[in-house]
This record gives sequence, structure tokens and C-alpha cells, in this order.
Amino acid sequence: PTVAVVFGGRSSEHGVSCVTAGGVLGAIDRDTWDVVAVGITREGRWTPVSSDPAQWRIIDGRMPEVLATDEAVVTPRAAGSGQWTVVTDAGQTRDFAHVDVVFPLLHGPWGEDGTIQGALELTDTRYVGSGVLASAAGMDKVFMKTVFRGAGLPVTPDVVVTPTVGVSEQREQIEALGLPVFVKPARAGSSMGISKVSDWAALDAAVADAQKHDPKVLIEAAVVGREIETAVLATPDGLLTSPAGEIITGGDHDFYDFEAKYLDEAAVTLLCPTELEPAVAATVADYARRAFRAIDAESLARVDVFVTDTGDVVVNEINTMPGFTPTSMYPRMAAAAGISYPALVETLLTVALE
Ligand code: DAL
Ligand code: MG
Repeated sequence: PTVAVVFGGRSSEHGVSCVTAGGVLGAIDRDTWDVVAVGITREGRWTPVSSDPAQWRIIDGRMPEVLATDEAVVTPRAAGSGQWTVVTDAGQTRDFAHVDVVFPLLHGPWGEDGTIQGALELTDTRYVGSGVLASAAGMDKVFMKTVFRGAGLPVTPDVVVTPTVGVSEQREQIEALGLPVFVKPARAGSSMGISKVSDWAALDAAVADAQKHDPKVLIEAAVVGREIETAVLATPDGLLTSPAGEIITGGDHDFYDFEAKYLDEAAVTLLCPTELEPAVAATVADYARRAFRAIDAESLARVDVFVTDTGDVVVNEINTMPGFTPTSMYPRMAAAAGISYPALVETLLTVALE
């Protein structure tokens, strides 16, 4: 079968997506799968790109990027046909590939949020990962938390700020959260636009910064606790939860921010598996499954929680297309569950084709 690996995209996680794709392109078993690579430029143009994993690595601290060629990929010729074509700027068309399954390795808005999933549904194309609603709910932290609350999962208290109901109208509720708070765009990833505010005087600037990513912003009470993550994977034998992983952020990073995630290897320690009291570990795994089911996720997700000193578990978020970069937690947690990176990729593709 042929898999189209689609990556890059319009979101601020464009580079992360390319690095994730580099990992996946290197792990797909080319004896089983024909692989075509489709890059989406930051402007949203779909373009044929190299499927050589070496092209999609971080070099000298710079993330790779999809650049437009003079050819654009058009998907598919007729719903369900699987036949994709390429159109040149001069208007000539040629066959690109017969695609059996798409691996949408896109992070953030316009990719991890149900939009590409919707396009693939419209064209009757199989794909890896969650469907439209789960992707959308997992991307928007406000809806995500609404769903989690409805499912009885503990989440952090927050106040939502929008262009119509801003900080000034909600000053009292915001201050009731207590310092410090985290200010987060509702729809973003990889900690883009997130800041920790320890002085109310810095709040407006933090909100403005988050609003560069999304006009809808959450102000959340900070939880003091360990950052614990779980990989959830749908396998032919059922839903699997991995041993927990832990992120320890050090150096001069106040929290697990973008630099610490991808560019400053010395700044973070990823422990996987990590030590947890058995009862806490059971709660973490239970919440991971419940979070996965609550948003109706499919195939894979990473569920991030905090564990406080007193052993309380608070759900921070779910990611329906978690990073697969060399410094990412998801593949490590899968490995701790006995699933190698190539086996993980194979499982994702196989389940999507079923
Ligand atoms: N949003 C990044 C890619 C992650 O969750 O790993
Ligand atoms: Mg996220």
C-alpha cells in the first residue's frame, strides 16, 4: 500500500511537524509501504517534497521548513479513488500517487484540529489518528477542559479571555485564581505563546502575546506538581496505556517551553518510565484512558497530567497528534511499553487501513 506522509502546515508548529515527519519517514518499513511525502507550506500550499528523512532534521538549531516548489499536489481526483495528481504552475497535470492512507503529521491549528481530517473525510480517504470532532476538541483547550469536566476529570481552574470579554471585565475572577498563572492560547501547541505570570502587572503583555496565536486565551491557575505524561495507543488488541514518563525542566527555563522542548537538550530530562506510587500510577493511567475516551480520540494520543505533592492527579491536556521528534516523549513511552518506534508507526498505519 501507499502512504502519503503529510507535514509542515500553516501553524506555528510547522518546524516541529517537519522534524516529526523526519522521524516517521525514517521508520516506515519501505518493503511494505510505498511512501510519498507531501509538504504543506506555511502559506498552505500542498507540494511534493523529499521523503528522505535526512532532509527533515534540526540543523544548527534551525528547524526544517517546507518550501514551495512550482508544483502543487491536488487531492484526490474523485472521492474514494485514492488517485492524487500534481499540477504545475503552468497548468500541466501528472499523476502523483495512488494513496491508500494518509499520515497527517501536522501539529496545531489547520492539521491537528479536525480541518485536514474533514478534508480527508470529504474525499473518502483513510488516515491515521483521531477524527474531526476529537481533533477539534483536543486542539481547543477551552472545549477540551469542558469535555474533561463533563467526564469527571479534574482540571485546573481558569478564566477565558476573548476579544469581546477581556481581562478588565473579569479582573476579579482572574485575581481569584492566585499567582502564578499560566496564560495560554486556546489553540496552539508546543508551548507557543504560553507564559507564566508571577506579577499581575505582566498579565496584559502575556495575554497580548498569547493572542498572537489565538484571540481566545486561557488564564489558568498554576499547579505545583510533577509533569507526567502517558502514551495511549489503539492496537488490534485494544487500548494500551504506556508506563508514565516525566519531564523535568531545568536550566534557565521557567517551564517546559518551546526552546526546552526542541532546541536546548540540556534543559530537560525525560524520565521514562518514571517512579510513581502504584496508586498514583493507576490513577494516571485511568485518567489517560478516560481523557482519550472523553474526547472520542482514535488511534493515538498523549495525555499530560500534573501530580501534586499530595498525590492528586490533575489533567493538563491531551494531544491527538503528539510530537515524534528525537526529543519527544510519545515514542519513548511507547518504547517503555515494549513498542519500538518502527513498530509504533506500523501499528498506526495498519490500524488506519483496517
Ligand atoms: N504539540 C506537540 C507537538 C506535542 O504535543 O508533542
Ligand atoms: Mg497540546
